[in-house]
Amino acid sequence: MRKLMTVTAFSALLAVFAVNVTMADKEEDKKKEKKPMSIHDVMEKGFKGGKSLYSKIKSTKKKSTKEEQEKFLSMLKDMAKSKPPMGDEKSWKKFTTAMIKPMEKIVKGEDVDKNKKALTKAGSCAKCHKAHRPKKKRD
Ligand code: HEC
Repeated sequence: MRKLMTVTAFSALLAVFAVNVTMADKEEDKKKEKKPMSIHDVMEKGFKGGKSLYSKIKSTKKKSTKEEQEKFLSMLKDMAKSKPPMGDEKSWKKFTTAMIKPMEKIVKGEDVDKNKKALTKAGSCAKCHKAHRPKKKRD
């Protein structure tokens, strides 16, 4: 009987422990969600290709939804928080802020066409890559 009691008590303890672990896992998940998207992911998911979020949003002919605009803005903000693999912080801040500012206006619906042009100018792939994207060795 005594043995049974011990086992029961032990199981109860285990159960409490298990709940704690699950809760800790959930906390971890929350942290993961808040982690900013890497520059690599922003490039792949937001910039790359003619059908990218960026090319849709900057176009004065195509229409993008508010949701897409907000998503892209948050990607730009994430990108601004990251450290580029090359180039100095000041220049990075300049490039990213130059995109975030018109993007914020687009989300708000202020001077949309004008700000799309500003976004396009600031979002020059070549200019920013020249300053901040390390060249790949090709041989
Ligand atoms: C504000 C600066 C900036 C602008 C604007 C920009 N890029 Fe990039 N891009 C980067 C940086 C920095 C990297 C290197 C990321 C790394 O190595 O972590 C990069 C890398 C990439 C990569 C390789 C992804 C990888 O990490 O392997 C692709 C593809 C890319 N950019 C596409 C584009 C295209 C297309 C445009 C224009 C429509 C563009 N980028 C505009 C900064 C920029």
